[in-house]
Amino acid sequence: MLEVKDLRVHFCSAPEGHDAVKDISFSVGDGEIIGMVGESGSGKSVTAMAVSGLLPMGAVECSGSICLDGLDLLNCTQEELRCRQGTDLAVVFQEPMTSLDPVMKIGPQVEESLRIHTKLSAKEQRAAALAAMAAAELPDPKGIYEKYPHELSGGMLQRVMIAAAIISHPRLLLADEPTTALDVTIQAQILALLKKINAECGTSILFISHNLNVVRKLCSQILVMNKGRIVERGSTDQIFYHPQEDYTRRLIAAIPTRTHWLY
Ligand SMILES: Nc1ncnc2c1ncn2[C@@H]1O[C@H](COP(=O)(O)OP(=O)(O)O)[C@@H](O)[C@H]1O
Ligand SMILES: [Mg+2]
Repeated sequence: MLEVKDLRVHFCSAPEGHDAVKDISFSVGDGEIIGMVGESGSGKSVTAMAVSGLLPMGAVECSGSICLDGLDLLNCTQEELRCRQGTDLAVVFQEPMTSLDPVMKIGPQVEESLRIHTKLSAKEQRAAALAAMAAAELPDPKGIYEKYPHELSGGMLQRVMIAAAIISHPRLLLADEPTTALDVTIQAQILALLKKINAECGTSILFISHNLNVVRKLCSQILVMNKGRIVERGSTDQIFYHPQEDYTRRLIAAIPTRTHWLY
């Protein structure tokens, strides 16, 4: 469903020849969960932002293609792009607190993509929001609908973000370090939730993390990013048990062994 080919992203502010993403190619099939790992600064978020159309277009130059069901997102109209973003593709980021409006109740924020992309009545939007919040396993959706972000824990806020992402039943979810700010127990719950959404709704997921151990729990295939390039790719077992690159070995070695049993 998603096919990225020779994607290159250059920030105009960066020196000549310094590309944040350098000719990467990968695809995410229907119902697949693909993991993307790499050190901080390796180009993971820039890739996710390019796919979701969130790069500041004036400040970057992109080349290559990003095809979502055959439509090249780098070469389509703003109108087409907006339409796809609301329905086919949704994003969950690391910091729910910065993505949510602190002075707006949770419910209307979960409904946002329906407000923008559909003509559903307020009542229908509310029903959909409550259903999405239940699917994101938030306890007491009706109660939480009326709350403000500061009244919820980090884990709950990430569930709110997931509810907002799945409300329009996207076929592809881009999850950029969605569990990084959370403690391990909550992290495991969010991973289980994403797995459930994938299994029950067939949602494809591009799951990004600097933590190979988190990616391992969720993904069948892993892409390893270093300095803007995909330096290694393969099944989770291949990457873990037969890494080809020293860089990948270093990422594996960086996993703290004492917390292994928690995952
Ligand atoms: N707004 C920006 N302006 C200039 N360079 C940027 C900007 N955002 C990211 N970059 C560069 O792109 C590269 C990849 O960043 P990023 O995708 O955020 O890394 P990751 O998510 O893997 O930690 C970095 O080298 C960073 O310097
Ligand atoms: Mg990042």
